[in-house]
Amino acid sequence: MAKILPAVALNFKQPAPTLKPTSRVVKIVQSAVEAVPQTSAFVPPPYEGVRVVTAAEYKEAAACLAEAFAEDDVARYFIDVPDRDHWTAEEKWNLHVEIMEYVTYAHILKGLVTTVDEFKAVALWMPPGQDMDDLWTVLRSGMWRLNYRLSAEGKRRFFNEFLPLLHDTKHATLGEHDETSWYLVYIGTKPSARGHGYCRKLIEHVTRQADRDGHVCYLESSNDVNPAIYRKFGFEDRRTIHLQRGKKNVSLDIMVREPTSSEDKH
Ligand SMILES: CC(C)(COP(=O)(O)OP(=O)(O)OC[C@H]1O[C@@H](n2cnc3c(N)ncnc32)[C@H](O)[C@@H]1OP(=O)(O)O)[C@@H](O)C(=O)NCCC(=O)NCCS
Repeated sequence: MAKILPAVALNFKQPAPTLKPTSRVVKIVQSAVEAVPQTSAFVPPPYEGVRVVTAAEYKEAAACLAEAFAEDDVARYFIDVPDRDHWTAEEKWNLHVEIMEYVTYAHILKGLVTTVDEFKAVALWMPPGQDMDDLWTVLRSGMWRLNYRLSAEGKRRFFNEFLPLLHDTKHATLGEHDETSWYLVYIGTKPSARGHGYCRKLIEHVTRQADRDGHVCYLESSNDVNPAIYRKFGFEDRRTIHLQRGKKNVSLDIMVREPTSSEDKH
């Protein structure tokens, strides 16, 4: 689950940017970016059929994540809000997909997006030393549109509660390793494809590299079932945090994976 884009929050109290979705500037930038592969500096070597998602494929990757996170309490936390009670299920679903598209595109621009078996599963990573907090990424990814797509309560939850909590928790948990960690922001396998080892492949693709470089990996888990899965890959529980503006508290388990040397594995 994601700590996304404090730069969006910078815009929160401002009027929506004057760039329109149809702006020629945005279109030109997007088509230029689609031709550019993700930064190769962070791409681990090929592993078990895992491949990097290109900018032209962001909608397919986001659709996989939207399906995987359809029932996720945190993903719904910004959409199932009292001031959107009048929205239809379809309107809420469209916003859910839209958010996944912005986040996926931002990670294609500044992070690492991977898939296995053609979008059966997708992972969004933020590599060591990287972030997507700059205004240019916010504009190019479409994240700035959240300023008017989320309701007033959705914005309070997202900008005033969720982002600061995740940012501060990550920093408090990792300390000096915050800048050098791999951050697993989202991972999802389509419901029909679960149990075939896709999640394992996507995670090991990066943890093997993290081990080689001596870097920690970090994640927030938004589902009670998942910590048991992540423990299989060497992640350890560090703390639990709570989102408290809804009818029920929503918990996130914070997990960290220390790098292991090849000797440790024998
Ligand atoms: C969590 C999720 C990504 C797992 O994906 P997956 O592709 O089915 O996982 P894999 O098949 O690679 O399984 C990995 C390991 O976890 C185990 N596992 C998978 N699902 C499990 C479950 N529900 N309960 C217990 N163990 C489980 C597998 O047995 C496997 O262990 P093994 O390699 O020792 O056999 C998938 O269930 C999902 O998309 N969930 C919804 C979205 C979500 O919660 N994402 C994570 C947000 S933090």
